[in-house]
Amino acid sequence: MANMAKRLCDAGADGLVLFNRFYQPDINLVDLEAEPNLILSTSRENRLPMRWIAILYGTMPVDFAATSGIHTAHDVIKMMMVGANVTMLVSVLLSHGIEQLGKIEKDLIEWLEVKEYESINQLQGSMSQINCPDPSIYERVQYLKAVQTYSPHFGLVH
Ligand SMILES: Cc1cc2nc3c(=O)[nH]c(=O)nc-3n(C[C@H](O)[C@H](O)[C@H](O)COP(=O)(O)O)c2cc1C
Repeated sequence: MANMAKRLCDAGADGLVLFNRFYQPDINLVDLEAEPNLILSTSRENRLPMRWIAILYGTMPVDFAATSGIHTAHDVIKMMMVGANVTMLVSVLLSHGIEQLGKIEKDLIEWLEVKEYESINQLQGSMSQINCPDPSIYERVQYLKAVQTYSPHFGLVH
């Protein structure tokens, strides 16, 4: 992924969108046919773009747009912290309506005020791999730690 991103950058891309969530049909076991069956995302799906933007931020001169599973102000903040310039929302607007944008903006402003940020630029990239206190958190070796600290209770809640 990092190699491909670098090649896109070298070819002149100014920005990368990570990641488009592909439309995937289902199988109808009664009619034995493939059929459309739209499943909207949840916040759980934003870990994939979050991790990759964190890894790529600061390593190449492109802007990042985060998409997939961004539903709340907290999701937006996390994406900005790993280095996204913008976030893109589809599922939450389809499920809750366009007015959800107003709520996300209000919650975002409230969070920034409580945490005493003056602008979003202050937090942008602060949790990217090159800037966060523990860069190894984004490495695959973290599977060991993730498995060791997993408990069924936490697994269900989060
Ligand atoms: C109904 C629907 C139509 C979409 N149409 C397109 C499209 O035409 N082209 C595209 O690149 N992505 C399309 N997407 C994918 C979105 O751009 C986006 O990557 C995806 O929905 C993930 O964001 P979300 O988690 O907020 O839904 C579509 C998504 C949905 C739900």
